[in-house]
Amino acid sequence: MHDLERKGFLVSAGLQTVPRAPGAVPLLGHALALWRDPLGFVKSLRQHGDLVRIDFGTMPTYVLTSAELVHEVTVRQARSFEKGRFFDRLRPLAGNGLANANGEVHRAHRRLIQPMFSKDRIAAYSELMSRHAHELADSWKPGQVIDLQHAMAKYSIDTLTSTLFSTDIGLPAVEAIRVNLPVVMKNLLIRAGSPKLLDRLPIRANRDFDAASKALRVVIDEVVANTRRSGDTERGDLLSMLLTAQDADNGKTLSDVEVRDELSTILYAGVETTAATLAWTFHELANHPEVEKQLLSEIREVVGDRPVTIADVPRLEGIRRVLDETIRLHGVTFLMRRTTEPVVLGDTEFPAGTEVGFSLYAIHRDPAVYVNADTFEPDRWLPERRDAIPREAFVPFGAGNRKCIGDQFAWTEATIAIATLLARWQFTPKPGHRPKEVASAVVHADSIPMTVQPRRD
Ligand code: HEM
Repeated sequence: MHDLERKGFLVSAGLQTVPRAPGAVPLLGHALALWRDPLGFVKSLRQHGDLVRIDFGTMPTYVLTSAELVHEVTVRQARSFEKGRFFDRLRPLAGNGLANANGEVHRAHRRLIQPMFSKDRIAAYSELMSRHAHELADSWKPGQVIDLQHAMAKYSIDTLTSTLFSTDIGLPAVEAIRVNLPVVMKNLLIRAGSPKLLDRLPIRANRDFDAASKALRVVIDEVVANTRRSGDTERGDLLSMLLTAQDADNGKTLSDVEVRDELSTILYAGVETTAATLAWTFHELANHPEVEKQLLSEIREVVGDRPVTIADVPRLEGIRRVLDETIRLHGVTFLMRRTTEPVVLGDTEFPAGTEVGFSLYAIHRDPAVYVNADTFEPDRWLPERRDAIPREAFVPFGAGNRKCIGDQFAWTEATIAIATLLARWQFTPKPGHRPKEVASAVVHADSIPMTVQPRRD
């Protein structure tokens, strides 16, 4: 008998008591189930309880299916976790920026970078967001068919790159990012999720990924070095701020490689996520004309005919509810952590080195929390109804020390785009087209073709 048990304490169970999800096959584990229907599979896991084991190949991962356990890992016991195996694999591919770094490096860099996303900074970036939204609206012709998924990716690349690099020195990087970032993003997670052995297979996906990620690295390195050499680091763009950031306590600054890694991380973390959220928003609005109508009258009342400004953003409450609902339904697919010391979650003990995972997408569609969980209902976020939803059950940007650093950036960018584009154009979905959900870092659509017509009302 365990010592503690003899003294009358409840002893937590070991990992061997955690049920394994059905459908595993030797060597591949649940890879086939994940490959066939990743979103259906992660959603199905809650039927096995709060904690269920899945195997990535031969590696067991313990999936938390309840918001309470996710809160334990991301907030309450966050100090006992690091990002884990998936990020170990991501690091050589994407660098050791904020999203991949662990421990003291993460803490130190987060402290340095946080002020770059302060309220004042977001207000300054909002002018660029508004300008790019207008340029996009100006570029469309009446009757043109636009793939919203593609258009929103362009908008979020343009916005983020002009926030990162404000001088001509950055222009080659902006162009290289436009061409190469989509290629890297398409393959990054597949690559990080597969055995290293497969990296060398001479197949097109590997060649394209290697070429695109090298091109990005080279061009960003050049821009970092040229800017450092030019001494032109008072521009207020993210690159200048990263180059001049200094820790007030210990005087630490970032090396050129660290600056490059942080710039790449911001691009990897900030473009696809925001683009997908925006594209789904236009899809949902086109399918819910009554909601779209409410937004139009809100935009007319708050903004009128002038460009959208940062002061309008908090007053566009209807857009906020629509964005909350869109991101609830179409959010981040799967996140991972690894214990750095023994941890008890629920009544199960996890030894150091255990890989755990959780799906925000599945948590946000839990029918025990959300009435009509799969239905688009922005009114569930009205103040009087919002309180019924536990805080831990809605975490589209994560929580705790690893919470998204760009959440306010993304909300501002998305609100400005919706208010600008919706006021100018009417969007009609291509008849018969149903966008398919594609699982990546976030769930994005394969394509969202819509015909645009100038709004006359
Ligand atoms: C709708 C858009 C976005 C969504 C849904 C989103 C979601 C998330 C989530 C869930 C995390 C936490 C990951 C974890 O716990 O493992 C995260 C982290 C992060 N995000 Fe975002 N994000 C978005 C936009 C952005 C933007 C625009 C930027 C930058 C401009 C950004 C930069 C980052 C960074 C650097 C991290 C790592 C933070 C850390 O570990 O300290 N994200 N994001």
